[in-house]
Order: sequence, then C-alpha cells, then structure tokens
Amino acid sequence: MTSDKDRIIIFDTTLRDGEQSPGCSMTLDEKLRMAKLLDEMGVDVIEAGFPIASQGDFEAVQEIAKTIKNATVCGLSRAIERDIDVAGEALAPAENRRIHTFISTSPQHLQYQLQMNEDQVLESVAGSVTRARGFTDNVEWSAMDATRSDIDFLCRCIETAIKCGATTVNIPDTVGYAVPTEFGDLIRAIQEKVPNIDKAVISTHCHNDLGLAVANSLAGVEAGARQIECTINGIGERAGNAALEEIVMTIKTRSDTMPFETNIKSEMITKVSRTLATTIGFNVQPNKAIVGANAFAHESGIHQDGVLKNAETYEIMTPESVGLTRSELVLGKHSGRAALKSKVEELGYELGDNAFQDLFKRFKDLADKKKSIFDDDIIALIEDEVATEHDRIKFVSLQIIAGTKGPQTAEMELIVDGETKTAKVEGKGPVDAIFKCIREIEPHPNAHLQLYQVHAVTGGTDAQAEVTVRLEEDGKTVNGSGADADTLVASARAYVHALNKLMTKRAKTKPALEVDGAVA
Ligand code: KIV
Ligand code: ZN
Repeated sequence: MTSDKDRIIIFDTTLRDGEQSPGCSMTLDEKLRMAKLLDEMGVDVIEAGFPIASQGDFEAVQEIAKTIKNATVCGLSRAIERDIDVAGEALAPAENRRIHTFISTSPQHLQYQLQMNEDQVLESVAGSVTRARGFTDNVEWSAMDATRSDIDFLCRCIETAIKCGATTVNIPDTVGYAVPTEFGDLIRAIQEKVPNIDKAVISTHCHNDLGLAVANSLAGVEAGARQIECTINGIGERAGNAALEEIVMTIKTRSDTMPFETNIKSEMITKVSRTLATTIGFNVQPNKAIVGANAFAHESGIHQDGVLKNAETYEIMTPESVGLTRSELVLGKHSGRAALKSKVEELGYELGDNAFQDLFKRFKDLADKKKSIFDDDIIALIEDEVATEHDRIKFVSLQIIAGTKGPQTAEMELIVDGETKTAKVEGKGPVDAIFKCIREIEPHPNAHLQLYQVHAVTGGTDAQAEVTVRLEEDGKTVNGSGADADTLVASARAYVHALNKLMTKRAKTKPALEVDGAVA
C-alpha cells in the first residue's frame, strides 16, 4: 500500500554523538546490543562511531558493520584522508554503509579552530567527499556550525559536496543556537540557492542547548529536510541532541498537521530507552516527554477522574503506542523455570543457558525476600545478568555491619579470574566500606568514583534497588549497574560491574588519535 505521507529518514547517532558525551561511553558489547535494538526498531541509519578516534571505536564500528543487516551503518570522519580511509576500512563488512564526513563552515570555526580561509575549506570539501566516494556511493557531508555560517558560503560548500558525490547534506545546529523559524528559513534558503540540491537529501542535526533541538528538527522537515539526526533519550554533546522518541511520536501523533511518517516501531521506544539508560547509568528525568517515569502518570484527581472515564480526556497518545504496559504482577516463589523462561521471552530477551540458570537462582532469592515480583523486577535482573555475563570479577557474597555504633565493616567474597578472594574492611559508612573492600581485593589506585546513584525499581519498602556507579581513570569513564533487593548488595554489584568495564577498557585502549581539530 502506498502512503501519501513523505518518509522521514531516521538517522540515529546515539552511538557516536551520544556516546562521546561525558559519562555515556559504552563498551563494544554494549554498543553492539544497542545497535541490534536500533535496527530492530526500524532506524534507517545507525551512526556507529568515529573510527579514527580510538581502536575501541574502530572495532565497534567494524563489529556493528558485520552484524547489522537492515539499517545502513555509518562512520564519521573529519575532512582528512586518513580518517576517511579508516572509516572506509571499518565499514567494509557492512551490507549497507555510509561515510559521513564533515568540516566547519562558520567564520568562528574557520578563524579560530581550522585557521583556514574559505577557498581552502571548499577545496577540502571537494577532496574529502571525492575520497569518501572511493569507498561507497552513500556519502553524507556535514557543514559543522552551519547555523552560524554565511549563507552564501554555506551554499557554495553544499553545491561542491553534491557535485563531488554527496548524497546527503547535513545542516547541523552544532551549538544549539537556532530557533525554529530561523532554522526552517535556512533549509528553505538552501533549497532556493543551491542549484543541484535536488540530487541530495537534506538532513537536520540539532543540539539542545536552548531546549529547541526537536522543534528545530521538525521545522527543518516542514521546510523540506527529509532526514533527522537524533539520539535515544536525547543524549549527546552538552545539552544533547534531538530526542528520537520525541521526533517519532510528534510525527505519529500530529500526522494531521505533519504529512510525514517514519519507519520506527514506536512500541519499542520504552524498551530501547530503558536499555540505554541502564547501560550508561543515565536515568531520564521523570517528566521527560515520552520516556520519563511520569510521562503517562495522572496524579491530580480531576485528571484521574477524566482518564478513568475515557483515556482521551488527558492522553494524546496511548502508553501502549510507546511500548509502556502496566508492570504486571508476574511470578512468585512457587514459579518454576518454565514460567520464568516464558516471561523472559515475553519481555523480548534471549538468554544463553548459563545466564538463564544464574537468572533463575537470583529470581528465587528475590522471591524469598519480595512478596510480589513484577515485570520491572525481572527486567532489572535480566539487564544485570546480561551486563555482567562476561565479567572477569564476579560478585559472590557480602556481609555488612552498619548502624550508629561504628565502625561500619564490609566482608566480601569475589572471584577474580577464577580465583576466590576475600577481604574485611572498615569504612566511613557501609557503602564506603564496600567500595574499600573491593579496592583491597582488586587494587585500582588511579580510578576515582564519580557517581553513586540509587533508585527503586518498583514501589514499596521491599522494592529492588538499582544502583549506578561511575568510575573514572585517566580521563576514561565507565558506568556499572547492579540490582538487588538489598541496596548494599546492589551497590557492591554495581561497583564490581564498573570495575570490570574499566579492566576491559584498559586492555582495549590503544592511544587515541588526536581528534580535536576538524581538518588536517
Ligand atoms: O554537531 C555537529 O556539528 C556534529 C557533526 C560532526 C555532524 O556532530
Ligand atoms: Zn553533533
């Protein structure tokens, strides 16, 4: 069936612009898992990373390129021959690949960052796009800081990029400075002034410094852009990028005023949002549109009364349309393996045998402590299990002496590379004692605790705690998460998980290449 709506290409940059922002870094396994979910959700283009930035980025892009079968896999590169060649190499295994190359076009960037004149930039645009075309006929060119650029110069750059073979031209509001009317006018002006613009798709890439990233992207689409670059939960540099879930649900909910459609299966939004939040330890604010904990909660009496009579009174979209179902009361301590297995499948997870056995044991332990077990409890346990499956250090047990009469003491058993190790340590409070205990068993003197965060998975005093720990070592950050009915056990699990990720990162990281300039 053909649709009378124009199709908007959703270009997801969670794994590149999102991942490069503070505290959002992911391991290769985590990126791969996110990429599979994005693909399954119907994202058209997955920007998998910046291959020249580090060995880790290169490997992640390559692995995603090997795995993803539907979406186009994209890698970023500056206007530098080596960058483009490395991106081409990382993307080589992809079924559908795109090289995304960029250079700045604003006077501020030309003068202070690039120290180039306009002619040199134009030459660089031609050279970089031509080189990228040597690897693929799907090339995107971006004008960094486009919204603060001289329009005539910007249009000459776009014309050159298209002449050299760019099939998508991206107009970033890199510093989040534009307002919607102005951004829409810019997209219109580009269509009027660039003679060969019909040979390329115009794309938006808006940052959220003034909270306008989504509004600007939609203004761009109304003016003629047909690709939107965005991220899950709006993560990204500084205040972030346009949030995918907000873009998709606005287009879907207001199709009466916007004759557009996307390929996104909106019912997967909640799952993908939660998976990202757990992976990077960045919970979204409760009142965040679409994916915040309160986005579909009705607190006031008048609203509750209306919704009970007819949901349409106060709901402009259904919770089900974003995959939010009531957290069902599911299993109890008498539930067996088969019941748990079918629940795991119903929640959309696939677990290997070992991971499932561990999950079953933890489910039974939880059922002994917690009367009612909900979907969200199972999801928290599964996420914990998936995240820690390949860890070198495994948490075994913890005993704590806490309370007003110190000293607070932690006694812990861990398995490190197959060897059982124990320690007993005092601290200034139980959490301090736990973290010191782990440091004693596996010393890591250069790592610093940057974040310790606890939240309850469900309501009630017997709720599971989900803890996030962020560690930093030599400028690299990792997030660990852990869930348990006991907050202190969840804290120990989260710290151990973060430490495992740090060890993986240390092993994998070769010196990063200089990526602060935008051109050679
Ligand atoms: O914000 C920006 O300008 C970018 C480019 C690399 C597209 O992220
Ligand atoms: Zn950006």
